Amino acid sequence: MKPYVLITGASSGIGYEFAKRFLSEGYPVILVSSNDEKLSRVCTELKDNLLNCEKKANNSKVNNSKANNSEKANSEKASYPNVNEQTACNKVDSSSEKIIKIVQDLSKIGAAKELYQKVQAMNIEVGILINNAGIGYAGEFIRSERKLQEEIMILNMNNLVLLTHCFAKAMVSSKSGKILNVASNGAFQPGPYIGTYYATKSFVLNFSQALRVEVKRYGVTVSTLCPGATVSDFARRAGKQQLKLSMSAEEVADAGFRGLMKGKNVILPGIHNKAALIVPRRIRSLLIGRMYGSN
Ligand SMILES: NC(=O)c1ccc[n+]([C@@H]2O[C@H](COP(=O)([O-])OP(=O)(O)OC[C@H]3O[C@@H](n4cnc5c(N)ncnc54)[C@H](OP(=O)(O)O)[C@@H]3O)[C@@H](O)[C@H]2O)c1
Repeated sequence: MKPYVLITGASSGIGYEFAKRFLSEGYPVILVSSNDEKLSRVCTELKDNLLNCEKKANNSKVNNSKANNSEKANSEKASYPNVNEQTACNKVDSSSEKIIKIVQDLSKIGAAKELYQKVQAMNIEVGILINNAGIGYAGEFIRSERKLQEEIMILNMNNLVLLTHCFAKAMVSSKSGKILNVASNGAFQPGPYIGTYYATKSFVLNFSQALRVEVKRYGVTVSTLCPGATVSDFARRAGKQQLKLSMSAEEVADAGFRGLMKGKNVILPGIHNKAALIVPRRIRSLLIGRMYGSN
């Protein structure tokens, strides 16, 4: 049985695509978000997909064994190659609960501990932690609501650190585990008119890279995913426009999944996002300020 993967912010965008990807690779998942209705809808959809996959896998097993039997009858040889199709679906072990839903508002102080306690109460060990939930605000800092600024910092930083602390301890004890913290390409320079968000992502990147060094000797890897503009609910919620060069959330989650499995340090999806980092930091910051300042 593959280890449980806990994904925060799994009700939409990149987190949702992570959930789909891990399920298709046979991992059971714990999906977390603050919106019960949205998360329930997503869980039902994913469970239906999984059931369909399992049905298809079972049918293909029956067909394959029928094919094997008729081949047996027609051939004199005693042994036959295994012709089972290794589809993404049939890698799933159907014996246990694959999709667990936990509603938790991670923009509140104390939420990380509450979430950890809920997982502990289920007697589940988390082998992979995906700290993906995050929000931002684009616009003039002084005109923003103080409460929103606080929520951005608690969600993007405080609870990411505390969840990592909770789950990394058990990973270190069992000498295995993987953590993926979702930062942003905003982590690499200051972002005028989106300053708090970019600063929280710089924090995530630096924190994750430091922790990576500390826990490496215990067999735990820490990776940081730094997406550029991605099609999701993020832009709308942050009050900014979806950029034309945006990648799909599926592409970003795919890069994140592959990078995490390889134990990569920093994962930068998209060639154009990598290329953008060649531009000097000061110029990048200036351009970002112009873009968001003129919104
Ligand atoms: N989209 C981009 O352009 C982009 C670029 C770089 C980095 N990122 C990062 O990628 C991550 C995922 O964002 P996304 O683009 O997929 O955006 P998204 O579609 O808005 O997804 C954000 C997820 O976070 C959850 N979330 C928001 N507030 C929460 C809270 N208080 N407690 C718990 N969960 C909460 C949301 O669920 P609920 O609303 O149900 O709580 C949702 O599932 C974020 O960390 C974001 O900063 C995004």
